[in-house]
Amino acid sequence: MNEQKLSDKKIDVLISAEDIEKKISECGKRLSEKYSGKPLLFIGMLKGSFIFLADLARQVTVPSRIEFIKTRSYRSGKVRGELEINYDRNLNFSDYDIVVVEDIVDSGHTLKAVAKLIGEKSPRSLYVIALLNKPSGREVEYTPDECLFEVGDEFVVGYGLDMDEFGRNLPFIGAIH
Ligand code: IMP
Ligand code: MG
Repeated sequence: MNEQKLSDKKIDVLISAEDIEKKISECGKRLSEKYSGKPLLFIGMLKGSFIFLADLARQVTVPSRIEFIKTRSYRSGKVRGELEINYDRNLNFSDYDIVVVEDIVDSGHTLKAVAKLIGEKSPRSLYVIALLNKPSGREVEYTPDECLFEVGDEFVVGYGLDMDEFGRNLPFIGAIH
């Protein structure tokens, strides 16, 4: 069972709930100043960003709309296939200053493709924030505009991030051993 799979593992706290809260509060202040007077569109990447976005959006004082994008990557064995990007096709990206919110940038494939797709739809501006950066995993050249923390070459869970769908509700970021 998946649940056992996670609870069997040892999880070391890498980033505490308090440290996350502090960074997000600082980030929210910066965004509130940067976008003062400009209505914002937050786009959260499902599912991993749901807690990060919920906390960050509440630290931002400019009027904000919130939407989500869901990606799925097809693989056969170790071969990476197409990345499917699902979003509300009625959304007019060109009406907004957009802030994309993601849990982690690892290989870089997901955010690179999403940033390209949104960029091609001519938003007023586009800014990409990842909670975590895992530079050791990078397979394509891509750097978000902002990453709040860096992690090493380890699998992390918590604060929205999962291992086989469990662990998202942990209040901290932990490494699995
Ligand atoms: P990418 O490899 O940069 O395209 O990241 C794809 C997705 O893989 C991220 O949005 C995460 O959902 C997931 N991911 C990558 N590394 C980790 C990790 O260490 N823990 C949990 N999820 C991860
Ligand atoms: Mg994700």
